[in-house]
Amino acid sequence: MCLIKIVPLFNPINISMKYNFIKDFIINETKAPKAEDKLIQLKLSYARGDLDPVMSEDTINYHYGKLYKAYVDRFNSGEGDSTFNEAGAYLHHIYFGQFKSPSSNNKPVGEILDFINQHHNNFDEFKNSFEEIAMGIQGSGWVYLARNGQIKTIKNHAIRSDIILLVDWWEHAWALDYQADKKKYLNNIWKIIDWSLINNQLT
Ligand SMILES: [Fe+2]
Repeated sequence: MCLIKIVPLFNPINISMKYNFIKDFIINETKAPKAEDKLIQLKLSYARGDLDPVMSEDTINYHYGKLYKAYVDRFNSGEGDSTFNEAGAYLHHIYFGQFKSPSSNNKPVGEILDFINQHHNNFDEFKNSFEEIAMGIQGSGWVYLARNGQIKTIKNHAIRSDIILLVDWWEHAWALDYQADKKKYLNNIWKIIDWSLINNQLT
């Protein structure tokens, strides 16, 4: 991935172009985004407080501002396991690129709704299956909707090329806002998924 494709990400109002990049990144790339040989952290298209109360500004500051940044920084400085750090950066790039301000009636629309209905009957059954699979993760990991319609998991970090929608299941993703209530974290996260962006994954 060259720098020219990455630069539009830095324009916070150009969401469509940002997501096109993420789409390319998810489907066509098997590495985290780089300029030359350095990883680049995703620039958020929302303010750090915009996802509150689903995801607090404190969580964004810690999760995005410190933990995600640390994967990028450690990879770039050559510190630690480069494969692990790159995968961590890759997954957080996708995760933080999916959100918008919360709304209680936020639901999938258009192609992603058809896709969910096709593979999981309806959105409620999809959410139930997603929760069941997520709760089955032992230790740290991720859960995601894959391009074949299945709900899949990732242990710790790993780069995958079939992610449509991704939820961070590491403790740091929910502990600050939800203590140990992982189900509430997941139930609330549906309120901040930008389904119009997810839809682009299916086109
Ligand atoms: Fe994380």
